[in-house]
Amino acid sequence: MNDQTGEIRKLSTLVEISQALSGTLNLKAAHHKVLEVLGKHHGMLRSSITLVDETTGELYVEAADGASDGARSNHRPGQEITRRVIESGKPVVVPQVSREPLFSLHATVKKDGHRELSFISAPIVLNRKTVGAISVDLGFKKDRDYDRTVKFLRVVSSMISQALKVQRLIDTERQRLLDENIHLRQELKERYDFSKIIGNSSPMRQVYEQVAQVASSSTTALIRGESGTGKELIAHAIHYNSPRASKPFIKVSCAALPETLIEAELFGYEKGAFTGAQARKKGRFEMAEGGTLFLDEIGDLNLATQVKLLRVLQEREFERLGGTDSVKVNVRLIAATNKDLERAISESTFREDLYYRLNVFAIFVPPLRERKPDVLLLADYFLEKYARENAKAIKRISTPAIDMLTSYHWPGNVREFENCIERAVLVCDGHVIHGHHLPPTLQTAAASNTITRLSLTAAIEAYEKDLIQDALKTTRGNRARAAKLLDTTERILGYKVKKYDLDCGRFR
Ligand SMILES: Nc1ncnc2c1ncn2[C@@H]1O[C@H](COP(=O)(O)OP(=O)(O)OP(=O)(O)O)[C@@H](O)[C@H]1O
Ligand SMILES: [Mg+2]
Repeated sequence: MNDQTGEIRKLSTLVEISQALSGTLNLKAAHHKVLEVLGKHHGMLRSSITLVDETTGELYVEAADGASDGARSNHRPGQEITRRVIESGKPVVVPQVSREPLFSLHATVKKDGHRELSFISAPIVLNRKTVGAISVDLGFKKDRDYDRTVKFLRVVSSMISQALKVQRLIDTERQRLLDENIHLRQELKERYDFSKIIGNSSPMRQVYEQVAQVASSSTTALIRGESGTGKELIAHAIHYNSPRASKPFIKVSCAALPETLIEAELFGYEKGAFTGAQARKKGRFEMAEGGTLFLDEIGDLNLATQVKLLRVLQEREFERLGGTDSVKVNVRLIAATNKDLERAISESTFREDLYYRLNVFAIFVPPLRERKPDVLLLADYFLEKYARENAKAIKRISTPAIDMLTSYHWPGNVREFENCIERAVLVCDGHVIHGHHLPPTLQTAAASNTITRLSLTAAIEAYEKDLIQDALKTTRGNRARAAKLLDTTERILGYKVKKYDLDCGRFR
């Protein structure tokens, strides 16, 4: 072989090797292919790739090629040398195997057609660390330029190491994503488990009971209730407490989408179904496969789509827009609305047959004004949540402020309540939320509602008592310091403490 054909052959080998390494995510198969290519074009009689196990540090034969009677065992004589190459990070050339004591210990060498062999091993280096070696047997030739063969092997080895690098990055990233996914699922589950739904009142306990009843089945559930009562929270609770919890929970807001879009959204479409449909797209029904589809604001769904939805509910299959194949789905449906559906039926804006299909198991989430006992619990819960989020040391809500909260009629329900506490936390710069931290609507409501039942004197006294309690709390029951805080004398404070029957010892 003259020099030039030799170089051309090497180049085309390198191209083949590079294709083998980049063409697949299965590196073991790619390594095999690399050895095969070497054997085919360069007369390498036997070859192997040995790698260091990342976790145990042990050497293992990743791929071997050449000898018919089990390349692995046959190649063992070279393994001691391979080990040395990996330890030292330097290539080794044994021009005549029969003269190398490490080889001649093994009878297998001599059997090989009585042909003299040369053995070459080059390290595989990744991020300056030797992570393995590529070793080959060649027929012995007196005039072989071993330096060039080593150089060539080093190029091959650096290609292998690049592929390893990519593979290990992918593995790390995939593991990270898997871990993150597990973590997120756990977080979701926690967010929607029952403990995050606040309320102990009897109407809420009834809701929990219904959630528990319906969760275990795949029955369609219809959640009703005014805006901001927690319908979406309940829908999540059903899903995350059902056998479908590890499958997706997919929400579609029927109100937010224009009529033309909602069907594409729900059922997906085929390529070319309309201008702009450049590829097939899955609908939410398909995305929810095995899990739960939550149709929020179902009362706002247009009549044409209601017909299609009814069909899916009856037949559990549908066609994508612009398509003819039916798609079968296994999803649990949960719908929610704050609309008066019965009235919508009488006004012919909601189909009666769909109503009956949805209304299999109805859960009514009561408005906040019908569950006054929950107001205190919610107040504590949101206070803690927003104080933590805003890093504020707010400890409690003053009694008059609590009175204002409980006497208000909360037309916006829990959502409005939550906003109100969040705002109070933001404007409060002490340890206690007072009435003046609450929104003006509550002040006027309080003035026109329950609080007017209190005389001015009684209201002032309640406020005064509250302030003194706060001061005593801050000074841990020390009257002198509490008096100073309130800019009054110890004598006056003592008098008030007596009047309001406060026990200073309690604050220590
Ligand atoms: N019982 C509850 N415990 C804790 N947070 C609640 C509770 N009920 C509602 N919330 C909170 O109030 C807000 C409104 O709840 P959600 O979105 O579930 O109401 P909705 O009934 O779906 O309202 P809409 O009809 O306006 O869509 C959310 O931030 C939710 O976390
Ligand atoms: Mg909602």
